[in-house]
Amino acid sequence: MKAYRLRGTGSDRTLVLEDRSAPLPKPGYVRVRVRAASFNYRDLLVLDGGYARNDLDDVVPLSDGAGEISALGDGVSGWNVGDRVVINFMAHWSGGPIDDRALNSSLGGGVDGVLAEEVCVPAHALVALPDGLGFAEAASLPCAAVTAWHGLRRCGVKAGDKVLLLGTGGVSVFALQFAKAMGAEVTITSSSEEKLAMMKELGADHVVNYRTHPEWDEVVRELTGGVDAVVETGGSGTLARSMAACRPGGQIALIGVLTSDTPDVTPILLNALTVHGIYVGSTEMLREVVEAVHVNRIEPVIDRRFAFSDAEAAYVYLRSGQHVGKVVIEV
Ligand SMILES: NC(=O)c1ccc[n+]([C@@H]2O[C@H](COP(=O)([O-])OP(=O)(O)OC[C@H]3O[C@@H](n4cnc5c(N)ncnc54)[C@H](OP(=O)(O)O)[C@@H]3O)[C@@H](O)[C@H]2O)c1
Repeated sequence: MKAYRLRGTGSDRTLVLEDRSAPLPKPGYVRVRVRAASFNYRDLLVLDGGYARNDLDDVVPLSDGAGEISALGDGVSGWNVGDRVVINFMAHWSGGPIDDRALNSSLGGGVDGVLAEEVCVPAHALVALPDGLGFAEAASLPCAAVTAWHGLRRCGVKAGDKVLLLGTGGVSVFALQFAKAMGAEVTITSSSEEKLAMMKELGADHVVNYRTHPEWDEVVRELTGGVDAVVETGGSGTLARSMAACRPGGQIALIGVLTSDTPDVTPILLNALTVHGIYVGSTEMLREVVEAVHVNRIEPVIDRRFAFSDAEAAYVYLRSGQHVGKVVIEV
């Protein structure tokens, strides 16, 4: 079977396609014939040697995959060969509070990932796919959709709440779809008018171009009077404006590392804000996301699909930032 690996050390890594025998699942593990994998911004960080957590040299990249079970290890019950499944971002966070074992088990970073024809993962990291959810759509969920879901849930978003989303990448587009399904009023920013028009079509109530309006927090406050929650995918460089866009008592799901700065954190106390650190999610959360996507008939926004043999081109495309939503590899 074929698998990609990142060979080299630190920032000097290259993507290499290798041929090897299919791995055998250990007790408690299953082997999955991967049918689709999706990219996240984090996969660029891993390639560049800049992923602060789980930055291993010599790893099969990408965290997000879906496929069919092709073999069962000893002691696995409740699963059958041929079952259609999606794999959680962390191999060892099935549910409950996060711990060190979970934090060290991100696929395509801390342990081998899914850019391969066959992968072995713990059975407890799998969620069954409902009929009608395709492999490419399912492979879009483990990192971006679960992070968006986790962030909105931690901020306690409910019907009528005002939610702010930054940019039109994978996490933000899922956050838009989930927040609208929850009945929230959504404002989303982008550097592109064309992408903002797409967000309107997806249901955004307000859109703001952060390039033509560098003081976008002021525009958000004018439009909303201050938001209840922010899904903060920008990072420390956008945090000050995200805090300024909140109403007193607002909540921020701190998620991204796209920008960096040293923001003044005083507004957190002066405006009684709550900042939640979010690191993807558990298999339990992935199960909720699969259910939410199915029941609400949410269609994951797939910007572009690449063949397995074109993985390198997919990395280049992701880095160009032209995409809206997800970039997928069909395996
Ligand atoms: N904490 C976690 O568990 C977790 C999980 C997933 C992702 N993340 C992080 O969240 C961020 C987004 O990830 P992703 O996979 O959704 O990325 P992505 O699909 O690559 O999307 C990135 C998008 O961010 C927008 N952007 C870039 N600079 C921006 C800025 N200064 N202000 C506002 N938007 C900006 C751009 O949108 P426009 O083109 O519309 O301007 C860009 O297309 C990354 O930093 C990633 O590492 C964290």
